[in-house]
Amino acid sequence: MNLVLLGAPGAGKGTQAKIIMEKYGIPQISTGDMLREAVTKGTELGKKAREYMNQGKLVPDEIVVEIVRERLSQKDCEKGFILDGFPRTIAQAEALDRILEKMGKKINAVINVNVPEEEVIKRIVYRRTCKKCGAIYHLLYNPPKKESTCDKCGGELYQREDDREETVKERFRVYRKNTEPLIDYYKKRRIFFDVDGTKDVEGVKREVLNILEKIKR
Ligand code: AP5
Ligand code: MG
Repeated sequence: MNLVLLGAPGAGKGTQAKIIMEKYGIPQISTGDMLREAVTKGTELGKKAREYMNQGKLVPDEIVVEIVRERLSQKDCEKGFILDGFPRTIAQAEALDRILEKMGKKINAVINVNVPEEEVIKRIVYRRTCKKCGAIYHLLYNPPKKESTCDKCGGELYQREDDREETVKERFRVYRKNTEPLIDYYKKRRIFFDVDGTKDVEGVKREVLNILEKIKR
């Protein structure tokens, strides 16, 4: 299954991607996670991406498209993949179409995790992420047993640099301008599914898994 997860910043894409990954054994490809890793390691890519990310702006299309092209060519994507946070612009979506066409593949479903802005801000402000394994927590909705330690691997939990309030506002502005138009782009192709992202993690999971069971048939 080749999937795309769409949704505003903080909507729950990463949370659901990890659930799908565990259930179906297909990799989560989060451009945000890959870029953050490059920033932490201080690679050339990370140096280029850092400023954009900290300002809540999009990293240029050419850069992100190359990361995804390379990632999709790896062996673990043969059985399928979950794109989380990519594409984010029409140009990226068109580039993805070209990449997949060359590989003789197509997208089976685009799932939009739909959550209103006020709710999403609460999710972002209280989010904590594990430095070591990337597990995602929420201090109120999905709290770790110890405030700054990962339940799964014992790694240290941190707050993302772009989760400050001003940056979050800019991420939203960018989302509405550049990413929301992708909803119509995919609706036209009839591979688009909306899920009610305001439910709790279990509730959203159930809707997502229902869709996946339907498209598998
Ligand atoms: P990215 O890392 O993709 O950030 P984002 O799109 O803003 O999305 P988030 O990761 O913030 O949210 P999410 O939807 O994954 O939510 P999560 O599951 O964590 O991108 C960061 C930056 O990288 C961009 O700004 C850009 O600069 C750059 N970038 C990345 N991709 C790019 C691209 N393609 N092109 C150009 N630039 C790119 O959940 C959020 C919180 O809510 C957590 O605390 C979680 O525990 C909680 N939660 C989740 N689900 C629920 C629920 N159902 N109920 C209650 N709480 C919930
Ligand atoms: Mg994410």
